[in-house]
Amino acid sequence: MARTLPTKTLVRTSATSIRHFPGHSKPSPPPCALMFRKAAAVLLLAAAVALPCAVLYRAAVLNAVQPVQVGWDRRPWWQRDQPPPAVMVPDEDGDVDPAAAGDPESDNLKLEQVLQEASMDNKTIILTTLNAAWASPGSVIDLFIDSFRRGVRTRSLLRHLVIITFDWKAYKQCKKIHTHCFALVTKDVDFSQEKRFQTAGYLEMMWKRLDFLRLVLEKGYSFIFSDSDIMWFRNPFPHFYPDGDFQIACDHYVGNATDLRNIANGGFNYVRSNNHSIEFYKFWYSSRLRYPGYHDQDVLNFIKHDPYITDIGVTMKFLSTTYFGGICEPSRDLNKVCTMHANCCIGLHSKLHDLRIMMEDWMNYMSMPLSLKRFGAFSWRVPQNCSLSLHNQ
Ligand SMILES: *[C@@H]1O[C@H](CO)[C@@H](O)[C@H](O)[C@H]1NC(C)=O
Ligand SMILES: *[C@@H]1O[C@H](CO)[C@@H](O)[C@H](O)[C@H]1NC(C)=O
Ligand SMILES: *[C@@H]1O[C@H](CO)[C@@H](O)[C@H](O)[C@H]1NC(C)=O
Ligand SMILES: *[C@@H]1O[C@H](CO)[C@@H](O)[C@H](O)[C@H]1NC(C)=O
Repeated sequence: MARTLPTKTLVRTSATSIRHFPGHSKPSPPPCALMFRKAAAVLLLAAAVALPCAVLYRAAVLNAVQPVQVGWDRRPWWQRDQPPPAVMVPDEDGDVDPAAAGDPESDNLKLEQVLQEASMDNKTIILTTLNAAWASPGSVIDLFIDSFRRGVRTRSLLRHLVIITFDWKAYKQCKKIHTHCFALVTKDVDFSQEKRFQTAGYLEMMWKRLDFLRLVLEKGYSFIFSDSDIMWFRNPFPHFYPDGDFQIACDHYVGNATDLRNIANGGFNYVRSNNHSIEFYKFWYSSRLRYPGYHDQDVLNFIKHDPYITDIGVTMKFLSTTYFGGICEPSRDLNKVCTMHANCCIGLHSKLHDLRIMMEDWMNYMSMPLSLKRFGAFSWRVPQNCSLSLHNQ
């Protein structure tokens, strides 16, 4: 009963709250305007020097089928005398969009540099992703960073946080508020809008992210990936299993870290870089083809039963909501909570509202005398605008 999704528009902007249930309609194709913008973007990019074949192919196809603005060279790229000049238009601050300027080789070097700078001694980093919709001042990313500052022994972890941005606006905002930012170049898709749950663009963003995380593992970095609608109140490292390659938080935790009936939530995980985890990420990413229309979190909850997981030899652990909670299933004890996720929540406004309440609750708790803290009388005032009823319990 609670499994049915409301008919109003679902705005789901993280890998978190609302699950995509079977039987729902397929995403509709993007409107013409968007298609046109894509085509124009691809044309510009065809000018860049070393583009992967896939992009070139796409550019060629789009070039052939899309109406092109008057004055543009309408021939496919391989028939032109020379490629159109790369247009790098500086914005009002005189900066040039790295996505427009980037070539794969220098992107790769940039990534290695950012990872190296942010890394702990043991090659571990903390990653989150950001698009424009969550980047504006006072929005999700500010609360996220604020939580590190107000948490117990979490402030120093900020030095190891890399914010992966999906678009130019998010990148610029990141540079204003944080040291380690990396622009994930997404040449042919505009990820800047608040993504509506179940749209093609939303899914593409989630899968792009997963593929990027595989790359980070291949570069030898272990990571905590955290959605930015997760408040960090305590250092999570002491609560990871020493023997888990892949450890993931849950919407619903059944009380046993290896039980596959745990409902994983892709918004928070800790992954050790090794051959098992890399192979697992490749398998997970490739599984999107077997489950078209589903996002990474759903597909994980399907493939966790796959015998191939055992063959890969990846050790999977589910993290208890006692420490890694959320609105679906809160961490009841504020003396233990590490992270709280605004999962089970529809819409950015509701999410922000409840995240702020969570933060207030935490600050009230922190200001209490130790004796009262120990007494454990304190509990969360959330959910308010988010909803427990979305959870399929
Ligand atoms: C890596 O270093 C951090 C910070 O010192 C520590 O908390 C974490 O447990 C270490 N991870 C491993 C796998 O040793
Ligand atoms: C936890 O789950 C695993 C796998 O289902 C099972 O083998 C194990 O016995 C369970 N442990 C406990 C303590 O129930
Ligand atoms: C994977 O295995 C190969 C050899 O089997 C080894 O050289 C390499 O370092 C391993 N990679 C990681 C990330 O553990
Ligand atoms: C939160 O819910 C309350 C009461 O239902 C409503 O008045 C308020 O406008 C909501 N706020 C947001 C930000 O959605």
